[in-house]
Amino acid sequence: MKSHIQSLLEQAIQTLKQQEIVPADFEARIQVDRTKDKTHGDFATNLAMMLTKVARKNPRELAQLIIDSLPQDSQVAKVEIAGPGFINFFIDDNALATQLMTALKDDRLGVVLPTPQTVVVDYSSPNLAKEMHVGHLRSTIIGDSVVRALEFQGHKVIRQNHVGDWGTQFGMLLAYMEELRAAKGEQAKMELSDLESFYRAAKVRFDESEEFATRARKLVVELQSGDEYCNKLWREFNDISLSHCHQVYERLGVSLTRADVRGESAYNDDLAQVVADLDAQGLLSESNGAKVVFQDEFKTKEGEPLPVIIQKADGGYLYATSDLAAMRYRSNVLKADRALYFVDLRQGLHFQQVFNLARKANFVNLNMSLEHMGFGTMNGEDGRPFKTRSGGVVKLVDLLSEAETRALELVRSKNPDMDQAELEQIAKVVGISSVKYADLSKNRTSDYIFSFEQMLSFEGNTAPYLLYAYTRIAGIFKRAADVDLSDASITLEHDKEKELGTKLAQFGEVLNRMVDKGQPHALCGYLFELAGAFSSFYEACPVLAADSEAEKKSRLLLSQLTANTLKQGLDLLGIDTLERM
Ligand code: ARG
Repeated sequence: MKSHIQSLLEQAIQTLKQQEIVPADFEARIQVDRTKDKTHGDFATNLAMMLTKVARKNPRELAQLIIDSLPQDSQVAKVEIAGPGFINFFIDDNALATQLMTALKDDRLGVVLPTPQTVVVDYSSPNLAKEMHVGHLRSTIIGDSVVRALEFQGHKVIRQNHVGDWGTQFGMLLAYMEELRAAKGEQAKMELSDLESFYRAAKVRFDESEEFATRARKLVVELQSGDEYCNKLWREFNDISLSHCHQVYERLGVSLTRADVRGESAYNDDLAQVVADLDAQGLLSESNGAKVVFQDEFKTKEGEPLPVIIQKADGGYLYATSDLAAMRYRSNVLKADRALYFVDLRQGLHFQQVFNLARKANFVNLNMSLEHMGFGTMNGEDGRPFKTRSGGVVKLVDLLSEAETRALELVRSKNPDMDQAELEQIAKVVGISSVKYADLSKNRTSDYIFSFEQMLSFEGNTAPYLLYAYTRIAGIFKRAADVDLSDASITLEHDKEKELGTKLAQFGEVLNRMVDKGQPHALCGYLFELAGAFSSFYEACPVLAADSEAEKKSRLLLSQLTANTLKQGLDLLGIDTLERM
C-alpha cells in the first residue's frame, strides 16, 4: 500500500513536470510514512515541503497542486492537507479489506517482494579457541533473524560464519594437544569437551615453560606454511570446537550449518596476494618493519595517523588482512550486492578502515554495499558486561539451561496438572525464545541489561506475552472448528476492526525496514503492537457470539490473519509457536 501511494505521487510529479510547475530534471526521493494517529489518515508525505525550493511556491499551495494532479484511485478514500503542507492519505476500508483477503490467501502474507539481491551475511563468527559465551549470542541470533527475513523476501542469502580459526593462539593449543596426546593417547580428545579449561591449561603451560612456548611458536609457523602433521592436529581441534558451536546453534534454532563456515583460515592462500596488490597500488607504508596502510580519513584525536596493519615484521598476517581477502571473495566470487557484518560495535573502527581500504584498492565491486551492523553489549543487572558470580565468562550452554529451568517452573505454576513431558517441551520453547526475544527486541545498537525475570514475564514486550497471545487465538479456532470459512470475506466496520486491519496491512513495510536496516527490533515492536490491537479488537468485538453469521466469519478471518502474521513474524525471529502453554 505504501509503495502504491508512492507511485501515485510519482505520477502527480510527472504531471507537474509537464505543466512546468516542477523542473523536468528534478529527481524526487518520495518519502511516505505511516501516520502515528488515525485522525491524520493512514499515510503522510512531506513531498510538498521538499519541492518548495525548486518550485518556488509555498508548501500548502504546492500540496494542493499535487493533490489536484493525483490520479483517481479506488484505494484512496480521501486526501487532505495538514499543518505546514503535509499531505495525508486515508485508505478506503474496502480496499484495506481486499488487501487483507489477498494476504490470507498467500503463503507470504501478501508481502510485495522487492528486486532480489545476493546478500552475504557474516554472523556468529566466534573465535574457535574458546567455547561460545554470551558475547556470541547477539551476533548469532540477530544475524540469523535478518537472514530469515531476507530469504522470506526472496533474496539469495549466503551465510558466512567467519570463525577465528587461525592466528598465533593456535600454536599454543596445538602444542598442548600434542603434549596431552603423548601422555594420554586418544583419551586426550576428552579434554577438549571443555574448551575453556583446555585453553586455560594451554595458557598455563605457555607461561610456565619456555620450551613449550618455543614449540608453540614453531607450530604456528609450520601450520601456516602447510605442514601436514600440524594441519592434521589443527583440523582435529577445529572439528571438535565447531561441533560445540553447532550444538549451541541447534539448541538456539539457528540456521547455520557446517557448510556456512568459512573461517579466517580459508583466506590463508590469498593473503600474500592482498599484500602484493596493495603494494602495487602504492598503498603500503613501513612502520617498525611492519607493512601498514595509512588513510587520510583515519586519525587519532591528536591528529596522528591511524594505520591498518597488514603484515607484521615477522611476516604474520592480521585480522584486517583476512577481512580484505574475504571482502574480495564476497564481491568477486560470491557476487554479493550487499555484505552485512553482524559484529560488536566495538569493532566499528576496524570495519570503517577495512571497508574504506577495500574500496580504495578496488577489491570490491563499485556497487557492492558494505554494512557493519554493529550491536551493543549485553550487561548484567549491575550494568557491567554479563559475568558469572565468580566473575568468569558465562558459557552460552549454561545460560540456555538456566533459562529452560526457570521457564519450566513458570509453566508448571500455570499448569499444575500438565504431565512432565509436555511441560518440558513447552519450557524449552519458552526458555529459549525468551532469551532470543529479549535480545532481538532491543535496539541493536544499544547496550541492554540481561534479566531472566524480565524476559520471562507475561507482561510487556516479551516472548511469553506473544506466545500466549498466539495460543489464545489458536484457542478461538479450536472452538470454531466447525465453521466453514471457504466463502467468507472480511468487512471492516467497527473501529477496532479497522485498527487491527490497518496493523495487519503493515507487515510488509516492517519487514522492509528490518531487512534494510538490520533491525529485528522493528519486527518485535510490530508484533507486540499487533497482539495489542488484537486484544482491543477481541474485547470490543465478539467473535463467536457476533450478531450475524457474516460478521462472525469476517472476524474469524481477521483472527486467522492475526495468527498467521504472528506465527510468520515469530518464525522470522527464529521463534517457534505453541498451540497451548
Ligand atoms: N571472530 C571475530 C571475533 O570474535 C568476529 C569476526 C567477524 N567477522 C569478520 N569478518 N571480521 O571478534
